[in-house]
Amino acid sequence: MCGIVGYVGSKSAISVLMVGLTKLEYRGYDSAGVAVLNGHGVELRRTVGKLEVLRKSLHDEPIDGHIGIAHTRWATHGEPNETNSHPHRDATETVFVAHNGIIENYGELRAELEAQGVVFRSQTDSEVVPNLVKRAYDECGDFPEAVRRALSQVHGSYAVAVLHKDYPGTLVAARQMSPLVLGLGNGENFFASDVPAILNATRRVIFLDDGEMAVLSPEKVVVYDLDTPIEAGKPRHKAAVTIDWSPEQAEKGGYTHYMLKEIHEQPDVINRLLSRYTNPERTHINLDQIGITDDELRGIRRIFIQACGTSWHAGLIGKYLLERLPMIAVDVDTSSEFRYRNAILSPDTLVIAISQSGETADTLAGIREANRRGLKVISIVNVPGSTIARESAGVIYINAGPEVGVASTKAYTAQIAALYLLSLHLGVIHGLVDTERLQRRLSKLGEVPGLMQRTLEDDSEVRRVAEEFAHADNAMFIGRGFGYPNALEGALKLKEISYIHAEGYPAGELKHGPIALIDEKMPVVAIATSGAVYEKMVSNIQEVRARKGRVIAITGQGNTHINAHADFIIRVPELTESFAPLLTALPLQLLAYHIANLRGCDVDQPRNLAKSVTVE
Ligand code: AGP
Repeated sequence: MCGIVGYVGSKSAISVLMVGLTKLEYRGYDSAGVAVLNGHGVELRRTVGKLEVLRKSLHDEPIDGHIGIAHTRWATHGEPNETNSHPHRDATETVFVAHNGIIENYGELRAELEAQGVVFRSQTDSEVVPNLVKRAYDECGDFPEAVRRALSQVHGSYAVAVLHKDYPGTLVAARQMSPLVLGLGNGENFFASDVPAILNATRRVIFLDDGEMAVLSPEKVVVYDLDTPIEAGKPRHKAAVTIDWSPEQAEKGGYTHYMLKEIHEQPDVINRLLSRYTNPERTHINLDQIGITDDELRGIRRIFIQACGTSWHAGLIGKYLLERLPMIAVDVDTSSEFRYRNAILSPDTLVIAISQSGETADTLAGIREANRRGLKVISIVNVPGSTIARESAGVIYINAGPEVGVASTKAYTAQIAALYLLSLHLGVIHGLVDTERLQRRLSKLGEVPGLMQRTLEDDSEVRRVAEEFAHADNAMFIGRGFGYPNALEGALKLKEISYIHAEGYPAGELKHGPIALIDEKMPVVAIATSGAVYEKMVSNIQEVRARKGRVIAITGQGNTHINAHADFIIRVPELTESFAPLLTALPLQLLAYHIANLRGCDVDQPRNLAKSVTVE
């Protein structure tokens, strides 16, 4: 997830662009850059690392000009270095582009352009865009039409900002699945990935929709349909809206907390993950940074997953997936235990580290121990270029974008989805998942973002449960099979942001002790979606109710059988059990969020916690 900003008007473009980038830094901070057109042509300045590095460079060597584009990067293709930073330009340095999204067919586009003599500088997917625009411009001679024609060849997601060195009064922007908002000023106009970037300059905005492009000059903004040639098409009428958010609210996209915003980003995150690692037809998987050959993966007979907290819970789900699909024996341990126990790891063991931050001290120590023993390590990480990613043989980036809330949400479901892709990939390599089964599973996985969206649309029942139990002193979460790790996750979410003592248990363990805790004051959240263990879950629910425990069942949309057994029912769309955790995680996150809110807790920065535990 990256941030882009554009400006055309009478002010210093750099001053407007840098304010905008500062407000978008939460979207990515691997590198940043600007391209500004002035009397000397287009001046391009890009720096690696935090935005402060670019700010200092521009202070030391200012750039003047009144039209420009800017970008802050969250690397998806190509490591964070100056060459891979945006804005990118075509080989002739005529067209400059900042891009947020993933171009799925960039490989073939790049090959086509290289065959025509284009020399590329970076490893990014984005660099094909300025070259496509330049090629189209050479054909049609019209800047906006050239952008439109270029984008008609692109498959994938994009929000693009385009600058042409011969058009000092025109910027072009377009969007497909990545956000873009236009800011309307007096004698000046703006665009950006998100409202915060332009809110201090104007509150009148137009939200571009998928398949639309905008042509900006200081005097006007015109929106067109990407599917219709400019000369043949009529401008689209788009109503401007006035944003009444405070700047602080705007940083959260209008949500009250980053955690709530990140909960609602999950459908988009899973979509992006699938776009990143599977083809548009969802018929094959390409884990292009896994760093281990198919032959080496074929020789793997055991897997050891090590992680902390929520990432450890994702690892537990990974165990069920890896034992079911490639049918490989899996051990899972918390990193703090793994690093000190003398785990028996044979040479045919693959170690998997899971970490949102990629900096967790215990997990990092775990992979260093694995590396010391000469074992292959794959890490599933969110933050590009983080230490754990760099010290692993291979990495699967979840590309969830910065996760600001201390309580991990979107990273969790993205980790599960990444583990799903890895399980299928290993299943194919081990000859246990044929093409038909792969396509069927990937097609099902492709339905998840839409089902997540549906689940998030109505949290009224979750809110009702939150109001009922906001003042409980204790809570219990139970599940079986794929539901068990989510029971642990639901308990962790609740305890870490609402400070209620909550425990997660395998439901089958209740009668071995925990059932002694059940009374009329104990809410018990039971994950009881359809599957092999559903009947057993109902028995456990009955045991709880027989002891006056109050049961909140999380179950499938069509399950009326459970109505007689639960005090509250939260429903998610029906899905086969191996996918269910991706959906049941959502009400668990929302339940913790609403209870913490009702208790007046600091949801984004709960007491005693830090977003990344970089010390033991
Ligand atoms: C999860 O909500 C917590 N914030 C915490 O348990 C977290 O998952 C854990 O510290 C691991 O962090 P990592 O994924 O960045 O390694």
